[in-house]
Amino acid sequence: MTTSRQSPIGVFDSGVGGLTVLKALRQAMPAEHLVYLGDTARLPYGTKSPQSISRYALQATESLLNRGIKLLVVACNTASAVALEALKAHLSPLPVVGVVEPGAKAAVSARSAGRHLVLATEATVRLGAYTAAIKRRDPDAAVHEIACEMLVALAEEGWTDGEIATAIVRRYVDPIIAGGNQPDTLILGCTHFPLLRPAIRAVVEPGTAIVDSASTTADAVKELLASNGSGAPAGQVGRLDLLATDGATRFARIGGQFLGQQIASSDIEIVDL
Ligand code: DGL
Repeated sequence: MTTSRQSPIGVFDSGVGGLTVLKALRQAMPAEHLVYLGDTARLPYGTKSPQSISRYALQATESLLNRGIKLLVVACNTASAVALEALKAHLSPLPVVGVVEPGAKAAVSARSAGRHLVLATEATVRLGAYTAAIKRRDPDAAVHEIACEMLVALAEEGWTDGEIATAIVRRYVDPIIAGGNQPDTLILGCTHFPLLRPAIRAVVEPGTAIVDSASTTADAVKELLASNGSGAPAGQVGRLDLLATDGATRFARIGGQFLGQQIASSDIEIVDL
């Protein structure tokens, strides 16, 4: 399909978490049309095998390609860690931006030779994607990664602060700190975790930098569009299309918190991959 400067940017996540990235994209590029696909029928990706994650990501991408996107943002850390190269090969010459590299960049900018602690899903941690991306930028950095599946469930349930959220974050983070690995940067290596900032902040030392990929991903997309001259024409008013593979009511309820604005279930188109 031929694309133009008016074509939308495709944004894909396993569910609603990628709306934190979408929010940053909208803020950075209000003129761009955006089409967001959350694969809510198959969430979570984080506990699945690399084969399933890659297959799901390719199917979701195919559906966005049919909408005439000019660039794909893989706004899911798990899919970025597992399937970014396969997606790039599949979409070439269309540009593809994942969230792991921008997240690593944010961490290294926050602290050089830092002691980084990455909170992510099982699949992301298994591949050590953040460790590799941080070490490529800063070989002196020390990186620990923890798989925190319960935090995805907490964010989905809307239990993002208070006693329960804090106790669960503590359960994951304390053993690392007790082992003498006090981090100076904590990386939210999963799209759901920016919602848990208050609980995470309550558990780490006050000077710890807490970073996520949202704004650095938006910066990377903006630079890419500017460099290949495919940014939206000035004066265009960006449109947002929301697609999901299941559960419009739940998507609207939870997604509103991630996007920072109300979503009506009638705003969401349910698609079959
Ligand atoms: N979107 C996933 C990520 O950023 C979290 C949810 C899932 O496991 O699917 O890793």
